[in-house]
Amino acid sequence: MTDPSRASNDVETTITTSFTAPGTPAEVFETTLEELETDLRRRGLHLEAGPDGRIVEDDFEVGRVDVWEPGEAVVVEWHPTSWEPAATTELSLAFEALEDGTRVTVEHRGWGRGIDDPTDLVGWCAGELVAPLLESTAPDAFGDWLTDRQARVPAGENARETYSEPQYHYPAFHLLVEELSLTPEDRLLEVGCGGGAFLELALESGCRAAAIDHSAEMVDVARRTNREAVEEGRLRIEEADAEALPFDDETFTCATMAKVLGLLPDPVAALSELHRVLEPGGRIVLEGSDPELEGTVAAPEPLASRLSFYDSDDLEALARDAGFEAVEIVRQTLEPYAEEADIPEDHRSLFEYRARVLRASKQ
Ligand SMILES: C[S@@+](CC[C@H](N)C(=O)[O-])C[C@H]1O[C@@H](n2cnc3c(N)ncnc32)[C@H](O)[C@@H]1O
Repeated sequence: MTDPSRASNDVETTITTSFTAPGTPAEVFETTLEELETDLRRRGLHLEAGPDGRIVEDDFEVGRVDVWEPGEAVVVEWHPTSWEPAATTELSLAFEALEDGTRVTVEHRGWGRGIDDPTDLVGWCAGELVAPLLESTAPDAFGDWLTDRQARVPAGENARETYSEPQYHYPAFHLLVEELSLTPEDRLLEVGCGGGAFLELALESGCRAAAIDHSAEMVDVARRTNREAVEEGRLRIEEADAEALPFDDETFTCATMAKVLGLLPDPVAALSELHRVLEPGGRIVLEGSDPELEGTVAAPEPLASRLSFYDSDDLEALARDAGFEAVEIVRQTLEPYAEEADIPEDHRSLFEYRARVLRASKQ
C-alpha cells in the first residue's frame, strides 16, 4: 500500500535512447516502423502507422500521432496513465542522416507521472529501461533472439526473402517429395511451412494440401508464394502451433516437416498431433535433424546449441512414442539434389553425408 501521508509530487525525466544503422533515413524509417508494428503487437500494443496514426493498448488510446514526416520524424502525444487519461507526455523518433548510415533518436519527454519519489524514478529507470537493455544484449537472450529471428519464428525482411526461396533447403525438399510419392488423391499436411517453397513443389503432384506455421510473417509469405493454389481451394495455410493443429482427427493421408523437427521443444507432442490428424493407414515423411550438421554452416551457433539433433535410434524412438508404426529411417546423400539446386560447389560437401528421413505410418 502507498503511504497516504506522502504528497503526490510527480517527478519527471526525459528518457533518451539512440542507435545508428546502415541505410538512408528513408530506409531506416520504413524498417523501424514496420518492426515496431510487429513487435508491439506481440506485446499487446496495436500500432496504426501514418499521419493519423495511433497506438492502442486494450481499448485505451495510449498514443496519437502529432507529426508524421517519413524519413525524418514522428512525434506522438502519449497518455502514460489510463487512470488519469488527460495527462500527456511526448514521445519522438528522429531520423538523422550520417555519412555512413542513419542515427535514430527516441526521446520520451515528461515521463514519470504517478511516481512521487525520486528514488522510485531511478528504480523504474534501472529496472524497466537499463536492466532489459543489459539482458537483451547478453548472450542468452541475444542467442535466443537470433535463433527465433532466423529459424524458430522467422521474422523480418531478410527471413521473408530467404524463406520464399530457400535454395539450401531444396535438396531435402526433393528427397521428401520423392519419399512421399504424392498422388492427386493425397491430402498432405505440412507443419512449419516457412515461406511455402516446399508446398509449391509438392502441389505439382496434383494433391490437395494444408499447412501451418506459428510465424505470422511466414504464413503471409507462404500464402503469397502459393496464391493460385490458395485461391483455387487446393491449399489452406493457417497460423498455428505444431502441438495444437487446427484440424479434425483423420483429415490427412500424409504429413511432412522440413527443417522443423530440431526446433520443437516437445517433438513427441507434435508427432502425436500428426498422428491424430492422419487417417488410418496415413504416413509421415519427416526430415530429421542430423547430428552431422551441428556447428556447420547449416546449423552454426547460436542455433547449434539451441537445436535438438537426433541420430537414427532417437528418431525411431520419437515416432514410436507418438504412436506410429512401421517406422523406418531412410539414409541418403543429398549430393545429387544439391547439384540440381545449383548449390555452389564449395558448399556441396555439406550434402555428402547420408541425411536421415523418418518414415512411419498410422495403423
Ligand atoms: C527453419 S524454418 C523451415 C521452413 C520451411 N519448412 C523450409 O524448409 O524452408 C522452420 C519453420 O518452422 C516453424 N516452426 C517452428 N516451430 C514451430 C511450431 N512449434 N509450430 C509451428 N511452426 C513452427 C518456424 O516458424 C519456421 O517457419
